[in-house]
Amino acid sequence: MKRKQKRQKRPTAQKTERLRVLLRHAAIQRRVAAVAREITRDFPGERVHLIGVLKGACIFLADLIREIDLDTSIDFMAVASYGKSKESSGQVRLNKDLDSNIAGLNVILVEDILDTGLTLSYLRRILLERNPKTLKIAALLDKPSRRIQDIEADYVGFTIPNEFVVGYGLDYGERYRNLKDVCVLDVPIA
Ligand code: IMP
Ligand code: MG
Repeated sequence: MKRKQKRQKRPTAQKTERLRVLLRHAAIQRRVAAVAREITRDFPGERVHLIGVLKGACIFLADLIREIDLDTSIDFMAVASYGKSKESSGQVRLNKDLDSNIAGLNVILVEDILDTGLTLSYLRRILLERNPKTLKIAALLDKPSRRIQDIEADYVGFTIPNEFVVGYGLDYGERYRNLKDVCVLDVPIA
């Protein structure tokens, strides 16, 4: 019996949206492994506690932690995101707090992208109040040209130009997180 060939379903851009590859999956994987080696070197013989900022950082965190050659543990926080818009509201709201105490731990806050810096400044401030032993920031992407708050990441995957990107965890209205590459998303202004 002849079977109908199944078409692989791929996430396709809506008709009016255009995707352009900025960072290929293979390059991301190489860079994530290099960042993990830096972390492994910086904390010899110690445990690192990775805190992922939901939801964008989950893919980066999952790849990063598997390349770290140390004792590790994971927790997550969730903050209000951009929603459907491409612009930040400028307000940060904590939607989910940590499950456990971080006092005395080597904390690495893992974020998908450092843009205006509002989110990470807020999270850094509330986490420092909880007395971790150390607090570092790992961001897959950095858009320094957009910075409003004075904050830098200790570990950066890639510095990128001021363009709106999706894929590898990053979304636009919750879509495109499953793309393996990081792509620039062009949405025509209505
Ligand atoms: P910040 O508070 O402006 O630094 O923004 C951080 C958050 O905004 C990130 O965690 C992302 O969720 C979102 N964001 C910023 N730039 C982009 C982008 O280019 N694509 C998708 N999300 C972005
Ligand atoms: Mg987001």
